[in-house]
Amino acid sequence: MSTPDLFDSWNTYEKVVANDYMHHRDFFVALVQEVKARDLAPLSVADLGCGDCAPILDLLRCFEVHDYLGIDQSESALRRARARLLPAGLNFDLRQGEILHELRKLTDHYNLIVCSYSLHHLDVKEKQDVLKECRRCLVPGGLLAVIDVFLEPGESIGSYLERWTTNAQSRYAALDAEEIEDLLAHVRSSDFPETVSTYRRLSTAAGFSRVSRIAQDAERLNQFVLFY
Ligand SMILES: C[S@@+](CC[C@H](N)C(=O)[O-])C[C@H]1O[C@@H](n2cnc3c(N)ncnc32)[C@H](O)[C@@H]1O
Repeated sequence: MSTPDLFDSWNTYEKVVANDYMHHRDFFVALVQEVKARDLAPLSVADLGCGDCAPILDLLRCFEVHDYLGIDQSESALRRARARLLPAGLNFDLRQGEILHELRKLTDHYNLIVCSYSLHHLDVKEKQDVLKECRRCLVPGGLLAVIDVFLEPGESIGSYLERWTTNAQSRYAALDAEEIEDLLAHVRSSDFPETVSTYRRLSTAAGFSRVSRIAQDAERLNQFVLFY
């Protein structure tokens, strides 16, 4: 599925991340703790739907990084990503393309794959295929970290959209009405979230044996789930 418009301009989403409305900070701090606890470094990281790499950069600075690959379909996001990664002195590669298509070309040497707010743009069949490819690309002991929006058990997409709208209208104070409307238009056309139990089923079919919900926000919209 393609994600039109919003991620081509990027400015509105950048404000959302800078104000931490989607709780990137807490989720990435929790991911750093999980990686440290498992003594995974040096890291070989694949970041699927990396965007401008703003949220993952602090994690990369915490560890020895053997290689970092960011995949995204948005040219403007990758331009920003390159500008952030270059001064960090990392061994990095950025590829413009569709997640599943690029993932199929990768070798199985990664010990950390991160999908931060990207998988909800895929339909359920694409999610299944991405999870299978992630399993194939991870070395034994490697982790797949999914930070994303989720449905509550039994929740309809209509109810999710209502929750999303109420949350944005009450918390996204740095955005003006037009920016919130742009975000909502994007969410209505491009969000296909799942429940954690759907992910559990898909990940088991993909060959993962463990699923762990590490953190969720107070609004129960955003969660961090680990697969290994
Ligand atoms: C909400 S942003 C998340 C960016 C970053 N990972 C973060 O957490 O802030 C979603 C990103 O996924 C990318 N994306 C969505 N669907 C994609 C697909 N099928 N293939 C490649 N990139 C995709 C978008 O271009 C966008 O940069």
